[in-house]
Amino acid sequence: MAETVTLIPGDGIGPEITGAVVRILEKAGADLQWDEQIAGETALKQVGDPLPKATLESIRTNRLALKGPLSTPSGTGFRSINVALRQEFELYANVRPVRTLVPGGRYEGIDLVLVRENTEGLYSGVEHYIGIGSDPRAAAESVMLVTRFGVNRILRYAFEYAVKHGRKKVTLAHKANILKYTQGLFLDVGREMAKEYEGRVEFEDRIIDATAMLLVMDPYRFDVIVCENMFGDILSDQIAGLVGGLGLAPGGNIGESAAIFEAVHGSAPDIAGKGVANPAALLMAAIMMLQHMGQPAPAERIRNALEQTIREGDSLTPDLKGTGNTESFADAVIRRLA
Ligand SMILES: NC(=O)c1ccc[n+]([C@@H]2O[C@H](COP(=O)([O-])OP(=O)(O)OC[C@H]3O[C@@H](n4cnc5c(N)ncnc54)[C@H](O)[C@@H]3O)[C@@H](O)[C@H]2O)c1
Repeated sequence: MAETVTLIPGDGIGPEITGAVVRILEKAGADLQWDEQIAGETALKQVGDPLPKATLESIRTNRLALKGPLSTPSGTGFRSINVALRQEFELYANVRPVRTLVPGGRYEGIDLVLVRENTEGLYSGVEHYIGIGSDPRAAAESVMLVTRFGVNRILRYAFEYAVKHGRKKVTLAHKANILKYTQGLFLDVGREMAKEYEGRVEFEDRIIDATAMLLVMDPYRFDVIVCENMFGDILSDQIAGLVGGLGLAPGGNIGESAAIFEAVHGSAPDIAGKGVANPAALLMAAIMMLQHMGQPAPAERIRNALEQTIREGDSLTPDLKGTGNTESFADAVIRRLA
């Protein structure tokens, strides 16, 4: 029986790109059925709750979701639903692969994977103001929470990912020279675990700022990079930039009890409703999901059709310097499904 996947179209450009992706998956023969749910601003407007119980229940039951971007108000308003979902389902590994698809960019032949810890670090949500005298917001404090348990499971995931996908090297990016406790624990556990993989996976550690520079100067020296939550957040956009930007960057949020696949980009309110959003990043997230579900055949079919469409450059959206739109892009991929 076809597996059921929770589908969250999301906010802004979300419904436009999920519509296109669902159409492509159906034509490619993916064996699944959708359980559509709402979240984010859309849910807040419709049912007064940005993360309705029915949506949580659906993900809990299906254990798999494909999610469009969700808007989060900055500074004030409700907490990020993306972060809430990651914490609710303990989606501890955020996996973001990037590969050059558009020829003629700054770099050719980029192929690397970032594994970001997704539940701890500076994004664990432990923060508060400190009042001094008459100023209730005289200072503010955010706690970088790192546990041996959390570090162990993300590093294990990174090493096992490398073994499973035939990757040669794991680079642990950190700031243990300054943050000796939190980042020191991350590094110590990494160095210890690396010994178990000797001869199978090469290991190195690098300071996060040097990693950022080297990613620009010589990205080819990297293969799998693993780091804590906020460093990973920043590096993942940086590596998306190496292959032409957010329009081509997918991500998987993986845990023991559920996995949620999404594009790295947000809800792009500036182009929402115009029909010009690029569906490729969400489509690539759907390819990751099909692989995760054990459906490599439709995944490969879509990947080949997408790569061909991008290489040949017809019908592409304006962010890829095309003159087409979301639907013409999807149609072009569908035409090339072998
Ligand atoms: N995972 C998520 O759901 C997620 C991730 C990042 C941001 N957000 C949210 O999205 C909202 C907007 O954030 P932002 O503007 O900083 O980032 P964004 O990624 O939405 O947009 C940045 C720029 O990239 C463009 N862009 C993004 N996706 C595109 C696509 N598929 N095709 C063509 N162009 C695209 C946008 O038009 C914009 O110019 C915020 O509310 C933010 O919280 C959500």
